[in-house]
Amino acid sequence: MLLILFTGLGAVILSVFGVVRGVAAFWFPAAPYEPSKRNKIGRPQDFPKGETRMLSLDKENVFVFHDDEGIYAMSAKCTHLGCAVQETSTGFICPCHGSVFDPDGKNVSGPAPAPLRWLEIAYTPDGRIVINRAKFVPAGTASKLTVSDERA
Ligand code: FES
Repeated sequence: MLLILFTGLGAVILSVFGVVRGVAAFWFPAAPYEPSKRNKIGRPQDFPKGETRMLSLDKENVFVFHDDEGIYAMSAKCTHLGCAVQETSTGFICPCHGSVFDPDGKNVSGPAPAPLRWLEIAYTPDGRIVINRAKFVPAGTASKLTVSDERA
């Protein structure tokens, strides 16, 4: 009789522990929080054609271009060790170890092992530009959205 009582009590305690553990896992998940890599940067008319702007999005610099073909975004994060590259008259240069990139972001000299990354651009339903820093697109063919695509 006593054995049955302790067994039942043990089952109840284990069940309660399981429920508490489940609730704790719901409120404190083991997966680390990672901030979104999607940023709304404004409307197309905020980026005049022919201009290059460098935006700082969550500590990552991004170049935004606007030409007759549309709007483009390219990460300014050097593919060597992650320093922020700077625009020059012939492309981009990394101040940390001297990597040089052409105007399309292709690495032409220095230790950078890969081109600068072009980033996906999309629109929100209200016509704002969204840069997705987690999604890369081919250089030069990136996000050819034009002002006429805007759904304001
Ligand atoms: S971090 Fe850019 S060349 Fe080293």
